[in-house]
Amino acid sequence: MKALITAGGHGTRLRPITHTQNKHLIPIANKLMLDYALEYVRDANINDVGIIINADDNSIKSEFGDGSSRNIKITYIPQDAPLGLAHVVKISEKFIGSDPFIFYLGDNILVGGINKFVSEFKNAGSNCHLALSKVPDPNRFGVAEIKDDKIIGIEEKPANPKSNFAVTGIYLYDSTIFEAVNNIKPSARGELEISDAHQYLLNKGYHISYSEITGWWKDTGKPSDLLEANRLVLDNIKDNREAILTDCEVTGNIHLGKNVKISNSKLDGPIIINDDSIIDKAHIAPYTAIGKRCTIINSKVGYSIIMSDSKISNVEDKITNSLIGIDVQIIGNHREHSAHRFILGDQSRVEID
Ligand code: G1P
Repeated sequence: MKALITAGGHGTRLRPITHTQNKHLIPIANKLMLDYALEYVRDANINDVGIIINADDNSIKSEFGDGSSRNIKITYIPQDAPLGLAHVVKISEKFIGSDPFIFYLGDNILVGGINKFVSEFKNAGSNCHLALSKVPDPNRFGVAEIKDDKIIGIEEKPANPKSNFAVTGIYLYDSTIFEAVNNIKPSARGELEISDAHQYLLNKGYHISYSEITGWWKDTGKPSDLLEANRLVLDNIKDNREAILTDCEVTGNIHLGKNVKISNSKLDGPIIINDDSIIDKAHIAPYTAIGKRCTIINSKVGYSIIMSDSKISNVEDKITNSLIGIDVQIIGNHREHSAHRFILGDQSRVEID
């Protein structure tokens, strides 16, 4: 079995962070988003992975290389233009050959990995296996129509959904999917829709089986989705304190990287702080992930993702619900303020007067 993972697109809802970095390289609990997908795939004993990237983007290649650092073999498949998910499958036919494969949208994060779906696909002996999840807003997704426990129709972002089962970005296929993607026509928005490929399979009498995801699943489009994913991963973080802690008050699990120095601070876990960061006279509240080489002095931070090389100092009011990019500086002068909420791209500078 092979795997195909998407890591392209433009991440428009995550601007300005995505002006300078690929969304799939955003850290969640200090692990890159794409590393979650790669880990799930490897845990399912799949070692041959194709990653779809925007043709002009080298950042994924420079981070993951040939995959050996992740014990996986990576082949890069460039997509020249965002022509839809079925188009992604279409241009990957040569890489996949006649193997069955999992198609995994790299911005989908779920708890518990994908082993369950792989074995249910094998047991079903179907041509396509979909992972469905009940959602309150099915009109944002591909939606499955189900009758007597069988999928009888799939529609992409329907105005009047026939169920509340979203088709998540975890799909398993045998090679009949190539017949589908090579025969469907672009939708009104000019894309080859993966839902149309699924409907093609149904129309031709091929068998689509499904699993229901009962645990947490999210396609991480917005900052709030990333913060929620971060919270969820941090909820299961293990305590690890190899750092130097001087005059600190600690509650909950805290995971500290190498050469982290923390003094005169209050730490309320779960939190994770990566290598070489310095925290002094600060309060780090639950669900905060701090990247490498950050400095937080005389400030309060909670429920946020702070990427590497950023500095927060003398900010009187609590920083919360924030997504802070690489090499950002937030410098305050400690006068009274109400709360602040930040979505800051790499190299932003914020001065609070
Ligand atoms: C895509 C698919 C949609 C699916 C969703 C899952 O939508 O077109 O069918 O439900 O991924 O994440 P997009 O996120 O590109 O709008």
